[in-house]
Amino acid sequence: MPVTHTLEGQLPADVLGRQDPELAEILLGELERQTTTLQLIAAENFTSPAVLAALGSPLANKYAEGYPGARHHGGCELVDVAERVAMERAKALFGADHANVQSHSGSSAVLAAYAALLRPGDTVLAMGLPHGGHLTHGSPANFSGRWFDFVGYGVDPESGLIDHEQVRALARTHRPKAIVCGSISYPRHIDYAAFREVADEVGAYLIADAAHPIGLVAGGAAPSPVPYADVVCATTHKVLRGPRGGMLLCGSDLAERVDRAVFPFTQGGAQMHTIAAKAVAFGEAATPAFTAYAHQVVANARALARSLAAEGLTVTTGGTDTHLLTVDPAPLGVEGRTARGRLAAAGMVLDTCALPHPDVRGLRLGTAAVTTQGMGEAEMTRIAALFAAALRDEAAGRRVREEVRDLTGRFPPYPG
Ligand SMILES: Cc1ncc(COP(=O)(O)O)c(C=O)c1O
Repeated sequence: MPVTHTLEGQLPADVLGRQDPELAEILLGELERQTTTLQLIAAENFTSPAVLAALGSPLANKYAEGYPGARHHGGCELVDVAERVAMERAKALFGADHANVQSHSGSSAVLAAYAALLRPGDTVLAMGLPHGGHLTHGSPANFSGRWFDFVGYGVDPESGLIDHEQVRALARTHRPKAIVCGSISYPRHIDYAAFREVADEVGAYLIADAAHPIGLVAGGAAPSPVPYADVVCATTHKVLRGPRGGMLLCGSDLAERVDRAVFPFTQGGAQMHTIAAKAVAFGEAATPAFTAYAHQVVANARALARSLAAEGLTVTTGGTDTHLLTVDPAPLGVEGRTARGRLAAAGMVLDTCALPHPDVRGLRLGTAAVTTQGMGEAEMTRIAALFAAALRDEAAGRRVREEVRDLTGRFPPYPG
């Protein structure tokens, strides 16, 4: 079909400003916040202008219930192509037989994985929430904890590493229908082969919730769960640097069950602008530049961990293999929640998190966003020094805020 329209001049940057100054001001204010403070939330990143363009495109107008070639709505010829491109790119990027790119979020992807493989009341073994499991891994406040019988494994309180002996013992005792591996704060590579072995021993499905490391997997900087897990759930908006959304990968044997679990079981119409943006992100992630980026993300996280340890903070597991690290600020005389507030006042945005000693709140940091900005190991050392200065002395916050403004000013995420 020949394309006769151009977006050139039709969507001027200030169109929102003229029509709705109230919202335009909020959007610009948020852009300023993101670009003048340090984004150290491990789950965030700066998507490319191309991803943003797809998100803000007329595909947002399209209803498309169903799958390419089998939609409930007319006019899906072009969005069908977009979804097929996204699926093919995801399959090639991760070496998977099948990809479902419709999940609205990481949680929706996990819900679909459970819907595909489990029945209400089934037993599931997953990382316990106090040790770094996600809400969808059995929180009583979430559908998972309400509809399934979750058993939690943990990390060794001394090493902070997953206790595989405990995983095996719990699996033998509880005979779960599925084992979930994946976490919101585990800084080391997941040993997927070890989880597969236990799952095979007890006849359980293995679900890898790779929401965090999937971008590193795409860039060859972390091991892939695809050869080991029955179903891989992921987000597309963390290190992977795509739009907010989810994705599922599986073998052809489970493709139909996974697709039906997404639509019509847990979702309605697909968000075609987001799916197009996922396709753009998968295309970007297949480039050598993204491979270099993913490795730099890890190098930066390691440098940040080393420098924070040198400043006196306790780094869980002594370092990291990934884009994230967790630290206990107690040695600097401040606990996690107070520390997060002081750092926010100094222009450093991050989360609190569970630590191997579950009653202690720590801090979780990630390097995906600052690495997209072009920062390297030298900047990580600087950030660690500013971080410790803000924690040691509340009065230093104002000076640190100015230094953060100066640092971020030299690394704009959207130059020009
Ligand atoms: C391990 C894990 N699973 C699932 C999710 C849920 O993703 P979303 O917030 O997109 O629903 C997250 C989000 O951080 C996560 O870390």
